[in-house]
Amino acid sequence: MTIDKQLVWVRDPNEGFVLARLQELMGEEADVFPVDNKYPRRVCNFDDIFPAGEPTKDVDDNCELMFLNEATLLNNMLTRYKNNKIYTYVANILLAVNPYEDIPDMYSSNTIKKYQGRSLGELPPHVFAIADKAFRDMKSLKQSQSIIVSGESGAGKTESTKYILKYLCDLWAKGAGPVEQKILDANPILEAFGNAKTTRNNNSSRFGKFMEVHFSNKYQVVGGHISHYLLEKSRICTQSSEERNYHVFYLLCAGAPPELRAALKITKPDDYLYLKNGCTQYFTSVQSEKKINASQKSKQQQAKGGLRDPILDDVEDFQRLHQALSRVGLSEAEKKSVYSIVAAVLHLGNVQFEEEGGARGGCGVAPRSEPALAAAAALLGVDPAELRMALVSRLMQSSRGGAKGTAIMVPLKTYEACSARDALAKAVYSRLFDFIVRRINGSIPSSASAYYIGVLDIAGFEYFQMNSFEQFCINYCNEKLQQFFNERILKNEQELYKREGLNVPEIRFVDNQDCIDLIESKNHGVFHILDEESKLPKPEYGHFTNAVHKELGGSNANARLQLPRASRLKAHRTLRDHEGFLLRHFAGAVCYNTSQFIEKNNDALHASLEFLVQESNNTLVQQLFETSDNNNAKGKLNFISVGAKFQSQLSQLMDKLKENGTNFIRCIKPNSRMVGKQIEGSLVLTQLQCSGTIAVLSLMEHGFPSRAPFADLHNMYSSYLPPKLQNLSPKVFCQAIVHSFGLSDKDYKFGVTRVFFRPGKYSEFDAIMRSDPDSLRAIVDSVLAWLVKSRWRRGIFSVLSIVKLKHKLAYRRRCLVTLQRCVRGHLARRRHRPRMRGLAKLRALQERLAAVRGAAAQLRAGRERVHEQLARVAAALAAAQARIKSDENITSEEIESTYAELTGSVESQMTALQKAMVDQKNKEEQERLRKIEEEMRAAEEAKRQEQERIRQEEENRRLKAEMEARRKAEEAERARSEERDRAAALALQRQMELAAQDDLADRDRLEQERRDHEMAVRLAKETNGHVEGSPPQLRSFPTMDSVNGENRLNRSERVRMQQALQGKQKYDLSKWKYSELRDTINTSCDIELLEACRHEFHRRLKVYHAWKARNARKSTLAEQERAPQSVLDAAKAPRLPARGEVLGARHRYFRIPFVRPGADCEERRGWWYAHFDGQYVARQMELHPDKTPVLLRAGVDDMQMCELSLEETGLTRKRGAEILEHEFEREWQRHARPAQP
Ligand SMILES: Nc1ncnc2c1ncn2[C@@H]1O[C@H](COP(=O)(O)OP(=O)(O)OP(=O)(O)O)[C@@H](O)[C@H]1O
Ligand SMILES: [Mg+2]
Repeated sequence: MTIDKQLVWVRDPNEGFVLARLQELMGEEADVFPVDNKYPRRVCNFDDIFPAGEPTKDVDDNCELMFLNEATLLNNMLTRYKNNKIYTYVANILLAVNPYEDIPDMYSSNTIKKYQGRSLGELPPHVFAIADKAFRDMKSLKQSQSIIVSGESGAGKTESTKYILKYLCDLWAKGAGPVEQKILDANPILEAFGNAKTTRNNNSSRFGKFMEVHFSNKYQVVGGHISHYLLEKSRICTQSSEERNYHVFYLLCAGAPPELRAALKITKPDDYLYLKNGCTQYFTSVQSEKKINASQKSKQQQAKGGLRDPILDDVEDFQRLHQALSRVGLSEAEKKSVYSIVAAVLHLGNVQFEEEGGARGGCGVAPRSEPALAAAAALLGVDPAELRMALVSRLMQSSRGGAKGTAIMVPLKTYEACSARDALAKAVYSRLFDFIVRRINGSIPSSASAYYIGVLDIAGFEYFQMNSFEQFCINYCNEKLQQFFNERILKNEQELYKREGLNVPEIRFVDNQDCIDLIESKNHGVFHILDEESKLPKPEYGHFTNAVHKELGGSNANARLQLPRASRLKAHRTLRDHEGFLLRHFAGAVCYNTSQFIEKNNDALHASLEFLVQESNNTLVQQLFETSDNNNAKGKLNFISVGAKFQSQLSQLMDKLKENGTNFIRCIKPNSRMVGKQIEGSLVLTQLQCSGTIAVLSLMEHGFPSRAPFADLHNMYSSYLPPKLQNLSPKVFCQAIVHSFGLSDKDYKFGVTRVFFRPGKYSEFDAIMRSDPDSLRAIVDSVLAWLVKSRWRRGIFSVLSIVKLKHKLAYRRRCLVTLQRCVRGHLARRRHRPRMRGLAKLRALQERLAAVRGAAAQLRAGRERVHEQLARVAAALAAAQARIKSDENITSEEIESTYAELTGSVESQMTALQKAMVDQKNKEEQERLRKIEEEMRAAEEAKRQEQERIRQEEENRRLKAEMEARRKAEEAERARSEERDRAAALALQRQMELAAQDDLADRDRLEQERRDHEMAVRLAKETNGHVEGSPPQLRSFPTMDSVNGENRLNRSERVRMQQALQGKQKYDLSKWKYSELRDTINTSCDIELLEACRHEFHRRLKVYHAWKARNARKSTLAEQERAPQSVLDAAKAPRLPARGEVLGARHRYFRIPFVRPGADCEERRGWWYAHFDGQYVARQMELHPDKTPVLLRAGVDDMQMCELSLEETGLTRKRGAEILEHEFEREWQRHARPAQP
């Protein structure tokens, strides 16, 4: 068996994919040998095997790979990453792998200049190329653009966003003055307040943002705007031990000048409850470390020193923040207020509570926390006593007792006071963040804006062991973005192809609308159920979770929402049904723990706190709360939840994205250690899957990502070409240049309104168009030549059309003449019908007259007279005929009367004639009677003579009989004597025979005695010379077994074992190797085993070919056809199950026409011959004129042969397909090369 030991990628849990060679095909699976023998040999499902192409070659655009699949995509990215090439495309989508180190000259001003105005694909992939494409699209389509940057934490989204802004500002904001700086300043400010160190990223953005850069109608930067989403609030109060709170807290501790720190009473992280449970180290450099004195350092910092990150430095960053805040327009006083609020949050965190023994079971501020309370109150500008009051009690409106609406203060328990404190801290900080974003936006003008480019930097799909409301919101956002991605990239793209009449196969993708409905649906989505729960008097997460399961859960395994125990992770399965739910997102199932959902969904402060801060004498604090949604005023039933706010923000964002042109950047994190030069295949693969990039591959394989309307191309390039080409219509212009470029016709397609290009081909086209004058001249020449040719073709086509028209006219003329002929004939026949009928009758009369004339000939007397009369009648008849013929106006009455007259005279002639005939007959009869009488007399005489003769004969006979009797008597006597003689002779003979018998018996007896004697002598001799015992006896004749014994020894162990099973009907061949199957087919005499092996063998071939076909490139598929399409199609058609096959069935031969698909159909038409031995093909032959014949035989060329069973090919059902053996053999012999025996 010869498998083409193809190089393939096989899925590997650690590496993503490993390179291997196909070894054995095992039905649905294959046995593979990894090329690198540190990996073990393995058996893989065909779904996990992909053709490898050239694994060492890397390409800029993955669409240029020989085979485009997830394995080759991954390999291309890994190969490139190792060579510092962090960017690749999948068509127009940029994949960016985080390098975690600076790559020289990667983002320099030189590089920015290089990418300016260059189409995608002209230069190596780069985030600048995407930025430039967005700019050019904005300009040419006059439409705002979005760049969606996605990826998981630490993948490099924020860095990419910064590079995009830098690119846009560097090139088009030079004239914009301070605007540019303000846009660039936004980042350090936002990062200080919204970024934090996490285990995944030292500078992790804990909020999402959409940054718009606005352009004037002259395409200069004139402004900007920032929208932000979902700031993570829980971090303000708690962090895990490896993580930190928001950078700004550490910036204040490490970088603020001593006077400021003293005023704010800021010391070191260890002193604050909101900081000390997390990591308390600062980010520093060697120099900045020196600027921090010991009182500022936490214990951790003193023990371990500072954290290092090239882009973070808490000391320097404070300065940067301070300056940036000034530049966006904050006065010194405002800045101080901002810092005070940050410090107030820290002090507030230190306020702790103790139970008070009172009857009402409330709590009070712990005495040790009094300074903290005082500091916080001072910084927030509120009265410490009021703050204390608001923290330990809650304002309520009574519904009983006094008048409705009477306010009473309800004391809080310790834990309730703690959450009130945390809620206040979170509200203050998050509103401060909103304020800062507002101020940044306020400082950047955006009035003169005509278009904008928006960059969305928002966290990708998230899943941890413990997932809460934050993950739920972010994953909901990602579901929406994924749907948008599907629509933009897959759905709209396919619709466009259809509209433009491009014949691109349809690609299926998973629609996640049901998942989105499940979350956001107005009347029964998760958000809705959560809000409803919050409105209950006593909201409870278990009740909420049960409601979710009841309303949205499904029992079948494919349901989107399930119980936690359906999770594959053990940790999730321990959650009880009312503690969480499992949601199957597009990127995978995530188990959410619902215990905090209700609290996190409601960020309203309780009334007394809200009133307190609104009354603050710090203007900034007052300002923060004056735009409050004032949920307290609205009451519990009308409050706006965090989920609802996010939903509406997201829907606004989606509206913007839908209006704009879109560009996608998928950021990829190479490893979880945050270091350069290391990349983990499986990690990258998971991210590609989560970002939906894998789903785009098949579209890209067949798609045409670059396109341009004819008119645009005409506008862009006509100036490069001579005037006579400029005047062409846009479509002809495009056809002329594209056709004359020599691009392969697979690389572009003409739609109805635009031309489409395969990935990278548009840039090739663009480069050629902008090339030097010499090559341009060559192009112009070839365009002109193409135009001449196409005009010539059009001319020829016109001439042919005219010739065709001429033939059509002649044909129509002939048809008209026929029509006229028929009509005229019909009219004439109608007009002359009485004359014609008259003539016909006269003709009949003429015949009658002829009969009369014939009868008259028999007359013996008066014949001449009768003839004369008949001649007269005939003349009258002729005259009448002539008249009818010549006189067109003769009436039918005249004709009738003439006819009647003539009939009368013919009939009278006839009557007369008959009478004469009767007379003549009578006379003849009398004569006949007389003759009869005479004859009778003569007969009587003859009879008498006869009687006499008979009597004489009788006499003679009697005499003869007497003579005979005599003779017989004599004869009998003679016989008797002879009998007597014979008896005597017989007696004598018997006597002689007896004598002879006696003699013979005597001789036999003598002979027997002689032999007995000899035997006795021999026996005597043997018993003397040999040991006693019977000689070995031959038990049976040689059996088939022993005859075959030698053969069997030559077979493999397996075959012999199988042979031992002979007689059983079923064989388990699934573990057999190919070679063993082939071996058995070639050597076995066991017909049943042989048949089973052939079935198994061909079954595997079928699975293998199916896999190959699935994975083959479209262009090469046709060349690999092993049998005519009609045969392969017959196998796909549903068929009744094959009836029990006859073992050792006969040989059959077939021949059908075969067109090998390709450029020129006529040349490739030929014949396909097959010889079936039983159910499977034994030899096959393909003959095409002017091509070398292809002769294949089973056992040698199985891979290229038809793997279908005869029944499946449907050949037996094809009329005329079966041929005789000698016909097949004749062709085979003729084409078999001499080398082939
Ligand atoms: N193009 C780059 N060149 C060099 N280093 C980079 C690049 N992109 C990212 N990094 C490094 O990776 C780190 C993380 O990147 P970034 O903060 O952009 O991630 P992110 O995707 O925004 O993560 P998060 O979702 O947590 O905000 C950066 O701090 C930087 O050190
Ligand atoms: Mg970020």
